[in-house]
Amino acid sequence: MKFIHKKTGVRVALTLSIALLLSASATAQTVPRLPQAEAEARAHAVLEKMTLEEKIGQVSMAHFFRFLEGGKSGPIAANAGDIFAQLLPGATLNGGGDAPQPNTPRGWADALRRLEMLGRQNLPGGVPAVFGTDAVHGVNNVPGATLYPHNLGLGAAFDPALTQELARATAADMRDMNMDWDFSPVADLGRDPRWGRFYETFGESPWLVADQITASVTGLQSGGVAATLKHFVGYGSPGLGRDRANAEISLRALHELYLPPFKAGIRAGAMSVMANSGSVNGVPVHASQKILTDLLRGELGFKGLVVSDWNDIDRLVNTFKTHADLVKATAASINAGIDLYMVPNDVEKYGAALKEAVTGGLVSQQRLDEAALRMLTFKAQLGLMDARPAGSGVITEGRALAKRAAAATLTLLENDGTLPIKTGRVLVTGPAMDSAAIQLGGWSVNWQGVGKGNVGYVPKVSTLATALKASAPAGVTVSALPDGKREALLRAAKTADTIVVALGEAPAAESQANNPKLALPAEQVQLLRDLMATDKPVVLVLMAGRPILQPEDLQNRLPVFVMAYLPGSEGGAALADALYGRAGFPGRLPFTWPGSLGEVGLTADRPPEGAGDAPLPLYPLGFGLDYTAYRTSDGQAVKTADGVKVTVTVTNTGEKAGTATLIVNASLPPAGNLEAVKRPVGVVRAELKKGEARALSLDIPAERLEAFTGDAFGAVQGKVLPGQYTFGIGDELVRLSLP
Ligand code: GLC
Repeated sequence: MKFIHKKTGVRVALTLSIALLLSASATAQTVPRLPQAEAEARAHAVLEKMTLEEKIGQVSMAHFFRFLEGGKSGPIAANAGDIFAQLLPGATLNGGGDAPQPNTPRGWADALRRLEMLGRQNLPGGVPAVFGTDAVHGVNNVPGATLYPHNLGLGAAFDPALTQELARATAADMRDMNMDWDFSPVADLGRDPRWGRFYETFGESPWLVADQITASVTGLQSGGVAATLKHFVGYGSPGLGRDRANAEISLRALHELYLPPFKAGIRAGAMSVMANSGSVNGVPVHASQKILTDLLRGELGFKGLVVSDWNDIDRLVNTFKTHADLVKATAASINAGIDLYMVPNDVEKYGAALKEAVTGGLVSQQRLDEAALRMLTFKAQLGLMDARPAGSGVITEGRALAKRAAAATLTLLENDGTLPIKTGRVLVTGPAMDSAAIQLGGWSVNWQGVGKGNVGYVPKVSTLATALKASAPAGVTVSALPDGKREALLRAAKTADTIVVALGEAPAAESQANNPKLALPAEQVQLLRDLMATDKPVVLVLMAGRPILQPEDLQNRLPVFVMAYLPGSEGGAALADALYGRAGFPGRLPFTWPGSLGEVGLTADRPPEGAGDAPLPLYPLGFGLDYTAYRTSDGQAVKTADGVKVTVTVTNTGEKAGTATLIVNASLPPAGNLEAVKRPVGVVRAELKKGEARALSLDIPAERLEAFTGDAFGAVQGKVLPGQYTFGIGDELVRLSLP
């Protein structure tokens, strides 16, 4: 088969044998597929033949609906090829819920394959547009997909190997649908639980999150899909916890807190970075050369592609009002370091503005070439410059993996002995007992969650109510009653031995998910109050993307409290196993749980208080109970070539097997600046049988022990200082002097 490229007349030749290859299923080949230099050379060969218009198109990302019939969910438009030739986009994406028709894995695979083929025929050099999407807990937009726990729960699992496995499974499903680019992982920190994207983070601690980012990037890219570190930088600490509000960040906080996860992701080879939609210290990040070039490329050495967030150059004019018009905003953003503009619905307007910026000398031809080269290099590294097999159009069921993942996240915060449920009549109720919407959270089918937007599909999930009934052990009977009929419910409670109430937040994403009061809806609090008034043992199961504050009189009286985060498709089955004692509670809090709104922003790595003691959280970072207990002993610390190795013996002193997860903290010697009283630097974790003792070690790289010295408002210098360090693991405190 031979395609003649309509614009340049370049023959894009696909011989029959290669075409036959196309029908083979895609192999999950690690990306980047080419060394940077080779990919750049191939990109140069295409770039040097491109016109100004083609380069401008190459650095724009259009919504894939532009190529579908009627500009909305539907089949590929008959004139899609002409639209490609007209818009010349370097990339396409779907919005958080926008789907092709048929909206099936096969339908996605066929639509994206068709777009790829049309791109090869109509785009410069035969290089198709790359398709990106938010597959942030499995391929969450695709009907039939099994959805994994959101990152906050994975943060509680403290198991980067599991995170990597989930990312790789996600990448394999993406490749089977001809998707190449995942706008994941979120490398922001979760330090203000009011923030609407708290659940998308792996938690509050820089180095604990960094280990998760390394795992996620490695999993995605070893599965053949480009990862995206987002949202660079400081997005997770907006003022008042309001999504995209201005974040005031000192240089010390930048280096000590916000950069480690991104540094880890870059070190893991992340192929792209997405800019923070908000602003830092009064500067919109999309217009900050200091952040997007000097810091990201100069200091962190990132060499890949920088993509904007949704419409964020336009927002410089319309929202932040920092730039008078789109031409000026475009020049500011491209010169700051944005390579590719995610401008889903107004590619033409952006193209005209960028052209005016270039021809008017606001953006140099060299800068445009640099951005277009990065885009082409990115695609060369994804194999888009070569013929390649089509995806199978079949995605994995993945339910066993999803259940194993959910089980690893479950965190037990209170237990008066009611758990495990061994016998008697169980009454289960509450809005989260059988709600796919609550259980899956945001970025599920639609970015605002199941039931929102224009896709009416409800994923099949294992709910708590169904699982408790279906897997009840002998001697346990379960009845599930909706909480709406309160009289009937309270009557049923009279004859119940245990009441399980599942509460949770309605799904949402971004600013729609801000929760300034860290509260559940009043009717859920009333339900809890009514059930607590029955004096029966109440097991609260919370499905939420953040710590929730109960009224104080309830909070301190909860007999049993399980934090399930947003557990995904198999959350019910995993919860039933844990409540019945067939499994334990391996999860430990990846964030500090404040006792009141006054403690929002309280984190484990607080410095010494200027006056008095720091407020005590309701539950500290790393907290979690289990059906067994652990003891630590024989703590040791030795200097190594790369840092410090700490070792501790952990003994399972209880009657059941369990997973011991212990955060390792470091206290640094005095260096003239406030330092965290204890800085989380890593985790030791092991499954231990009843009575088993095991020596667990952690190698702490020296960079995790750096102090950032320097005066207020001045530069900071990170270095490992000589002096006495103290390492805390469980009950062990170990001192070590470093030269
Ligand atoms: C959204 C989010 C970003 C996402 C992008 C594409 O606004 O900020 O995380 O990847 O748009 O959906």
